Amino acid sequence: MKPSTIKKHAVTGVIALVCLAAFPARGQDNPQPMSLEGAFGRFTERRPAPTEFASEAERQRTLRIQYMTALSGLYRVLVAEPSRNSSAVELQKPAAHALATMAAQIPSVFRVPSPAPEGASGALPLIWDVTKKEEFNALTESFKASAESLRNTVGNGGDVRRALYAVRYHCIACHSIYRSAAK
Ligand code: HEC
Repeated sequence: MKPSTIKKHAVTGVIALVCLAAFPARGQDNPQPMSLEGAFGRFTERRPAPTEFASEAERQRTLRIQYMTALSGLYRVLVAEPSRNSSAVELQKPAAHALATMAAQIPSVFRVPSPAPEGASGALPLIWDVTKKEEFNALTESFKASAESLRNTVGNGGDVRRALYAVRYHCIACHSIYRSAAK
């Protein structure tokens, strides 16, 4: 190998190492702790959220999982306080409002084809099968309607339990059809 070629390889190697260090290959990898400073002192964020992803599909998967986790948190808040006698009932309206607003955006987390990698649990390729698109769209539309109905029910003092049941039906239906089970 010519010295110039060796030098070229060495430079490429160094660049690759720097890139690897700066941009971890997988979104789940924990980046370095981060220092946060503000009016209440200086603190350390030990698990900063990754901002770099190995691929667009991986970014979409991460976004979708975070979106789903948010839906789940809102749903759990509502399930924990379905009674009007509860002292935490003031969370009902904002939670139902947020759930309906988030639900209305569900098509956006499925826009880019990004199924789970081979053998991993997660979104099935069926979601992006163009010949089956109508069924999937019908489910997301019906889910949006159920969340909107829940928001209205909470607003007008109707049967919140029944409205929650309808929302939950959609979560489970979609997971059963379009998500591969955790192994
Ligand atoms: C239209 C389909 C659909 C609907 C409706 C839906 N989900 Fe999901 N959900 C998915 C798919 C697909 C995944 C797998 C995401 C992935 O790994 O890419 C998922 C994943 C999840 C996860 C796992 C996240 C993780 O940590 O891996 C949770 C929790 C979740 N959904 C909660 C909910 C809740 C709660 C609702 C209803 C309020 C809901 N989902 C409605 C399709 C749906």
